[in-house]
Amino acid sequence: MSKLLKCFSAKDWLFIFLSLALLGAQVYCNLTLPEYMGAIVGNIKAGAMAGDLSLYWSDILKNGGIMLAFVAAIYTTTILVSYLSSFAITDAMAKARQQVFGKVNDFSMTEINKFSIPSLITRSTNDITQLQQTLFMIINLGLTAPITGIVAVIKILNLSGDLSIVTALSVVALILLVLVMFIFVVPKFKKIQSLTDKVNLLTRENLTGIKVVRAYGAEKNQEQKFENVNREVAKTDIFVDRIAGLVSPSMSFIMSATSLALVWLGAYLINDGKIDFEILTVFTQYSMQIIMAFMMISMLLVMVPRGIVSAQRINEVLKSQSSITDGAGVDENLLTEKGTIEFKNVSFKYPGADDYVLKNISFKVQKGQTVAFIGSTGSGKSTLINLVPRFYDASEGEVMVDGRDVKDYKTADLHDKIGYIPQKGVLFSGTIEDNIKYGKADATEDEVNEALKISQSKFVFAKPEGVQYNIAQGGHNVSGGQKQRLSIARALVRKPEFLIFDDSFSALDYKTDKALRRALKSHTKGTTCLIVAQRIGTIRDADQIIVLSDGEMVGIGKHDELLSSCPVYKEIALSQLKKEEL
Ligand SMILES: Nc1ncnc2c1ncn2[C@@H]1O[C@H](COP(=O)(O)OP(=O)(O)O)[C@@H](O)[C@H]1O
Ligand SMILES: [Mg+2]
Repeated sequence: MSKLLKCFSAKDWLFIFLSLALLGAQVYCNLTLPEYMGAIVGNIKAGAMAGDLSLYWSDILKNGGIMLAFVAAIYTTTILVSYLSSFAITDAMAKARQQVFGKVNDFSMTEINKFSIPSLITRSTNDITQLQQTLFMIINLGLTAPITGIVAVIKILNLSGDLSIVTALSVVALILLVLVMFIFVVPKFKKIQSLTDKVNLLTRENLTGIKVVRAYGAEKNQEQKFENVNREVAKTDIFVDRIAGLVSPSMSFIMSATSLALVWLGAYLINDGKIDFEILTVFTQYSMQIIMAFMMISMLLVMVPRGIVSAQRINEVLKSQSSITDGAGVDENLLTEKGTIEFKNVSFKYPGADDYVLKNISFKVQKGQTVAFIGSTGSGKSTLINLVPRFYDASEGEVMVDGRDVKDYKTADLHDKIGYIPQKGVLFSGTIEDNIKYGKADATEDEVNEALKISQSKFVFAKPEGVQYNIAQGGHNVSGGQKQRLSIARALVRKPEFLIFDDSFSALDYKTDKALRRALKSHTKGTTCLIVAQRIGTIRDADQIIVLSDGEMVGIGKHDELLSSCPVYKEIALSQLKKEEL
């Protein structure tokens, strides 16, 4: 919990402390009220005995006045406590949410896959809300309820032993009730949270894949999957609510029965002259306070475990360390092999997987060269280039950038050198300009325009809004090919040392593909390029072509060399080009 506690600032702690102090005053008022009530009853009785109530008017008014003042104090403190504690808790939880967000941004793909994206979303939304509610209850009731209960018990024991037995029996009944709650309900909370993860997962998967779902008429199937999980959440919720539903009426019953029993037994005791009427009045009030206190404690006992489950889930995220850590840092001036990338006997398997996805890969790219990767889907092309920006770390061997191991760099410095264009163009909501400036925050208008031109994003200038055109969430108001070109522009604007294209030309028509490659060639001289591509045409001019098959490098060389030396390459080439084009 240590990480979560750090989310509370000094001001938050001060507000919580003030809340507790005010609550202390409130408990004092609450516990003293019955005594003034008893005093008024005493005044009335004395007045009745003397046959003239007016003799006691001033006493009654005085005691009544004090009661009113106490009630006003309780009213004011309740408002203040609510204000102060809400502020402190909401503030701290907002910070926790921010920290989870920041933490997740630092995670490598390994941690993100470990938690899963839907679970990370639940943890930063639903779990924080859950914890927020629990904390609010703990601060408001955690101290006051037990103190009220204990002090009230002491008071009634002094008033009448006989009547105390009635209250004690009620308390035992209450404890049994809470025990039932505890045994049956509390274990369900962990289940509810992980089921919520699943609901999120299915919702997300369904929404992102909605087109495929429609196209394949898989709605029924998806709904069935959702229904199964949804039913299970509902079943668990219903179970919890049923038991919780039993508790509230049972509590009311216990309270009413206690009042009745007290009055009934009290009547006998007064008749026998064992107690006064005042004592019965005061006693009944304290008894109700005890029962209320127990009700609050039982609510806490049910809520707190739920909050703890959520707190643990949040804390798990906060204390997770990214498996990709910053290196010591590299002095740029000491780099002797700038612009080069080298793989030295690199093997890789995904965390938790048994099989190697890359096996013993070695190659070197010189500054300004273009190396292309080709191979069937699943042969490991994306995996290979993901090792350069350290989305994952090589399991064995070394990946060198500018002649140094990528692990030596500060991650931010390493990323500064690289323009990475993912297979699926990713755009964020905002204008086109905002999206391009992701690559370089201080890019000038000219730089943005140049990047757009090289990436063949001329369609931008045809829009009336130009670069101010608003990209919708997920970039769904531009086509796949336009998204790819904008992603390329975003990488180009930073004028990186290295450009890494992961099949980023796949959504482009042949003509655009060709024009783009020509523009890249003339504008990115000196930039080292790693290109994953499906089309032979895209890569045939590359300085080196690396052919991958099942994670192994089965060929390296230029187009013409590979045609004669590498059967896998020849097969791919033949499938795409006519013999005379080769
Ligand atoms: N996050 C992942 N976890 C586990 N296995 C993965 C992951 N991503 C890809 N793979 C596996 O690694 C292999 C290579 O995938 P990938 O590099 O994406 O191939 P390519 O880009 O050549 O199509 C595939 O067999 C794929 O199933
Ligand atoms: Mg791929």
